[in-house]
Amino acid sequence: MLKPLPISPLPVSFEVEYQAPAYARLPVQRGTSTRGDLTALKHQHQKITMITAYDAPSGRIADAAGVDLILVGDSAAMVVLGHDSTVPATSEEMIMFTRAVTRGAHRPLVIADLPFGSYQVSDEQALESAIRFVKEAHADAVKLEGAGPMLSRVRALTGAGIPVMGHIGLTPQTATMLGGFKAQGRSAVKAARLYEDALALEAAGCFSVVLEAVPAPVAARITEALDIPTIGIGAGAACDGQVLVWHDLLGLYEGHAPRFVKQYAELAPAIGAAVEQYASEVRDGTFPEEKHTYAMTEEELALFEESLAEVRAG
Ligand code: KIV
Repeated sequence: MLKPLPISPLPVSFEVEYQAPAYARLPVQRGTSTRGDLTALKHQHQKITMITAYDAPSGRIADAAGVDLILVGDSAAMVVLGHDSTVPATSEEMIMFTRAVTRGAHRPLVIADLPFGSYQVSDEQALESAIRFVKEAHADAVKLEGAGPMLSRVRALTGAGIPVMGHIGLTPQTATMLGGFKAQGRSAVKAARLYEDALALEAAGCFSVVLEAVPAPVAARITEALDIPTIGIGAGAACDGQVLVWHDLLGLYEGHAPRFVKQYAELAPAIGAAVEQYASEVRDGTFPEEKHTYAMTEEELALFEESLAEVRAG
């Protein structure tokens, strides 16, 4: 009779086992904190950290590093899929990226970017798209770009219980209308428009607003005026939080980097060198070594050789 294998009991749930890093400030368990916790951080003058991620390993690393928020940005279209703008990103692609991130990240809030064309048509379209991100990809919240006609989208989504992050300033999905990838709000009139848009997004129900490529003093005034936190990217240090794109921060993207990018590591050359070494070791036979292979017993090997000899003899 076969002896039963010793099986260790499975954890009741990952959440029970999971230990948040000591420096993580939002409560463990995604899905329990958006407007309240983030606004509390703002009022306590604690800076909010957000980073983009597009797959399970990056979600896991961002979680372990203690960031507050993960954005599955449609920047994926550029840094992952190789397009030259964010416009081609589709809901299917963004849902796949978001699903991967939510498999890897268990504590930070995961916010999914609604891609261009998935919410501009109508409130109903926006709602259908956002529901997919929540149901199929397990996003905690969604982000959309713009104000004006987008305010009714924010009301529709928040009315259905889906938290929304706004995004104004340089909005890459409509960069052509803005005259390219350029800083926004640099004249008094345009700065005042941004200020009004930010207030309107808050009034419509956003839990936070991204300010991208906006002069620092304009972002500072907007930040003072809002109760909800601002997350800046190229908008100065007065914002309540900051966001950077994963590939920019790690030196993985070899395209043009805007001036607001700070590169904290230079991984592309390190990765390139590792791949080069691998290819060269395969070619010269130094990889794989004994320790990378599996053995079999002498007896089994002898039996195998015998059976081969029989086959060969016919
Ligand atoms: O898509 C993205 O990564 C973004 C951030 C730059 C804010 O929208």
